Amino acid sequence: MFDLPHLDLVPLGHAAGTVRLPGSKSISNRLLLLAGLSEGRTTLVDLLDSDDTRVMLEALRTLGCTVEREGACTVVTGLGGRPVAARAELFLGNAGTAMRPLTAALAVLACEQGGDYLLRGVPRMHERPIGDLVDALRGLGAEVDCLGQEGYPPLRLRGGRLDLSRPVQVRGDVSSQFLTALLLALPLACAEQDATLEVVGELISKPYIEITLNLLGRFGIAVQREGWQRFVIPRGSRYRTPGRIPVEADASSASYFIALGAIAGVEAPVRIEGVGAASIQGDIRFVEAARAMGAVVQAEPNALEVRRGAWPLRAIDLDCNHIPDAAMTLAVMALYADGPSTLRNIASWRVKETDRIAAMACELRKLGATVEEGDDFLRVHPPERLSPARLHTYDDHRMAMCASLAAFNGLRQHEAVPLRIEDPKCVAKTFPDYFETLFSVVAPLSGRAPVITIDGPTASGKGTLAAGVAARLGWHTLDSGSLYRVAALAARRAGVAADDEAGLARLAAGLQLRFEGTTVFLAGEDVSDALREEAVGTMASQISVWPALRAALFELQCSFRRLPGLVADGRDMGTVIFPDAPLKVFLTATAAARAERRHRQLLARGISANLDGLRADLEARDARDRSRATAPLKPAEDARLLDNSLLGIEASVQQVIDWWQAQQPFGH
Ligand code: DC
Repeated sequence: MFDLPHLDLVPLGHAAGTVRLPGSKSISNRLLLLAGLSEGRTTLVDLLDSDDTRVMLEALRTLGCTVEREGACTVVTGLGGRPVAARAELFLGNAGTAMRPLTAALAVLACEQGGDYLLRGVPRMHERPIGDLVDALRGLGAEVDCLGQEGYPPLRLRGGRLDLSRPVQVRGDVSSQFLTALLLALPLACAEQDATLEVVGELISKPYIEITLNLLGRFGIAVQREGWQRFVIPRGSRYRTPGRIPVEADASSASYFIALGAIAGVEAPVRIEGVGAASIQGDIRFVEAARAMGAVVQAEPNALEVRRGAWPLRAIDLDCNHIPDAAMTLAVMALYADGPSTLRNIASWRVKETDRIAAMACELRKLGATVEEGDDFLRVHPPERLSPARLHTYDDHRMAMCASLAAFNGLRQHEAVPLRIEDPKCVAKTFPDYFETLFSVVAPLSGRAPVITIDGPTASGKGTLAAGVAARLGWHTLDSGSLYRVAALAARRAGVAADDEAGLARLAAGLQLRFEGTTVFLAGEDVSDALREEAVGTMASQISVWPALRAALFELQCSFRRLPGLVADGRDMGTVIFPDAPLKVFLTATAAARAERRHRQLLARGISANLDGLRADLEARDARDRSRATAPLKPAEDARLLDNSLLGIEASVQQVIDWWQAQQPFGH
């Protein structure tokens, strides 16, 4: 996960491969609540693990449910027939799918059983309207206090007397989640009487109501529907767990990969598993919109394969009421279209995680598009060419995921531009591994991910510096010295001599290596500690003079070059392995400073050493590294020199980051 202030994306090129998407947020949180209200155990398979589901799970626990995790299964033991916490304070983050249904359920429970509940969230949650639901609950007889502004959370639910003799009226034109909330909650009060819900005004986002009805059905509650205006929950309704229930992959999340196939699935399709034509999610109809824009989509019941058809994409003019969340993806696809695209009937965007109409318009303009916006529409005129931009994400997962699709601009324009996505971790709301998943199926346009090389002599702090820079950028690392060390360790164990060039090369070519962060596995064994032994380091230094060994390790080192980027440290990263790296750093700390560092490191590990001896050894290694015929230690011609003898680690990292930033078109 990218827990960074921002993520820089180089221009991206073709896409191909298979992705499995996380479970649907809408289905996950509805199922959690239904499981929580049922009697007995419900096993949810492939439940989404994200910010929004975590707050719901936490709320259920607070109320008295038991939640256990077993691999891909989440087992909820519900409240049905068990005592519910009579007082509770629930923090619900920015999860509308938790706030709305819990408000309704707890308001009803407080009336039925007595209780006092406080529900609150992050500041943005307190700006998201809930007045229509509060009005409906008050109409039913529940006592609901808005503790801040009237019509907004935080809320206090204090019981009351429910009256179901008249239909409950609820407005449906701001958010369908209010109706969903009541549909999910009212069976709690239907033991002896019907509950009738009447929608006032036009109901938006009907597909989400279909999900709600479908899932209620799975829990034994057969709601009778008359058009989209009247819903009756029959007397005697009781939540009955289906036992085990799989969670579909998120169709809204699929929209980014459908768009990806339409834009970049040129030589091979993008295959999306976990959701397909049999989906109960309304956003699956995004497929139709993508097809209208030119995507070629093959739909199986539980998978989709998408490739590029029309290019540029075809502009569209679409009423998006049926796909409110996925429609945001169309706004970004519109950048690649052959004319202006208009998305209509999207007023609900304004009350989501952020005002999405305003946010989308602002960010698309930064990219160079001309954007017209109205209360309920957005029109995007694709620019002649996209500009590099720093895209703000408004703590909105969908803004961040949409933004990433602008990185394919090089497929449309001659001069491709990079992008910066601010606060990339906000994708955690529904898709914590979004960027990792994206990077698993796309290649950089140039064919090469960016690399920062950090070369320098022994004990100059390359590894620490590289790790620090990589952490700041969210990039991968390559500690190339560890490869020579592994070769040395394997040679010692196999009895291959330090001067047996051919034998060493053969051995290196067959190494069974695996890396997990900074842990190195050789044939399944964790050898990280063994690699740091002095004897191994000395042999590494000796054997690294052999051209055949260096050649044998070449491809392995190149294979570390992956999106979003690589920080590689060693002796010849900038000169031999990654000569095209856009930033090369050469460390030049004095032998005295390096000997002191090594001394301190050894002492910290409880190993005593002689400072003069260490310095002599360092100098001998430097001499060997510098004088060897193949890939000698020297700065690349275009390397930046960094003398870190007197610099702390933070200052050194900052210097490299500053150099990197200065090369980016969006600056600091
Ligand atoms: O950085 P280190 O001390 O872990 O490296 C061990 C040895 O490997 C070092 O003495 C020289 C060699 N090496 C190399 O020749 N080329 C590299 N890119 C990295 C290390």
